[in-house]
Amino acid sequence: MNKQPILALAPMAGISDWPMRTLCVEQGCNYTTTEMVSAQGFLTAPSTLNVYKYLLAIGPAEPPPVVQIFGRRPELMSEAAKRLSDTGLFSGVDINMGCPAQKVTGGGAGSALMRDLPLCAEIISAVRKATPLPVSVKMRLGWDEAHITAPELARIAQECGADLLTVHGRTRSQQYSGHADWEQIASVKSTVRIPVLCNGDVNSAQSCLEALRVTGCDGVAIGRGALGNPFVFAQIQAALKHEPAIIPDDDQIVATAIRHGTMMLEWKGERAAVLEMRKHLCWYIHGKRGAAQLRTRITALDTMEAVFSLLREFAELQKNVDKPCGS
Ligand SMILES: Cc1cc2nc3c(=O)[nH]c(=O)nc-3n(C[C@H](O)[C@H](O)[C@H](O)COP(=O)(O)O)c2cc1C
Repeated sequence: MNKQPILALAPMAGISDWPMRTLCVEQGCNYTTTEMVSAQGFLTAPSTLNVYKYLLAIGPAEPPPVVQIFGRRPELMSEAAKRLSDTGLFSGVDINMGCPAQKVTGGGAGSALMRDLPLCAEIISAVRKATPLPVSVKMRLGWDEAHITAPELARIAQECGADLLTVHGRTRSQQYSGHADWEQIASVKSTVRIPVLCNGDVNSAQSCLEALRVTGCDGVAIGRGALGNPFVFAQIQAALKHEPAIIPDDDQIVATAIRHGTMMLEWKGERAAVLEMRKHLCWYIHGKRGAAQLRTRITALDTMEAVFSLLREFAELQKNVDKPCGS
């Protein structure tokens, strides 16, 4: 592949907000998506309800993300796409056809749509007509192993005017278990002309190069591999240029986590920011010396100063560990 691959941060509810997207873009991520937003909820929420203000917030220094919507009624999906596009804040509209959560599939949305391809066609066509922005579709391989509908859905999406597809190489019944099947993503890719992003278990430069090779995809979407690790994008960019691997040192990890916390604090205020940062802290220190010990204290953190001081303690701990005995 000669073109620069798309290196996307996969949409993740409660995670891929603007501070996370900003940090990933700084490291070389070149495609971001908001977390999923209910089309119906967005259209019917009273203006006093500020949950959408948060779900759709854009950072001061990030490029416009794609906005992801979910739902099953074409008229609501298209109206939401239109109104969101009219804000001028987003670079595209992504349709969620992959979410496996019961609260989404129970209402017939997310991956449940993969069992009703004519309805998928209606939704994609309606959204296509409603927005001048690029339209994309995020899907799984199918509902279960006996119903692999991704190649057919990909063909339909292309016909209905979609500009890009992201394919997570698992079925709905697999949830997040087992391994993403990149071979099956390759067969989806070979069905269509529009760009396809390979998603599932891409979490390092090595796995990214392998996924691109196996699938022939135009890029990858990285979800869990970016948790506490926005550096994965810089590592991939280096590998694509055949440059030496960039391993972040402990000071860089701490500085990044502190910036993450600072953005959260400015955006959400102390209480919400501390709650949000607890999970990110666990991810930032994952696998490091003393992490288990520090993790037990993270759930009790209640001020941002306590968050920062735990991070400084973490940095000291790593330095002391590295010192030879007696020094
Ligand atoms: C906590 C969490 C939240 C997620 N939220 C969304 C979402 O809002 N929309 C979506 O399309 N996929 C969502 N996903 C799925 C991811 O985008 C991605 O498809 C999946 O995690 C597989 O990629 P990975 O192996 O790189 O994590 C979520 C995944 C996780 C772990």
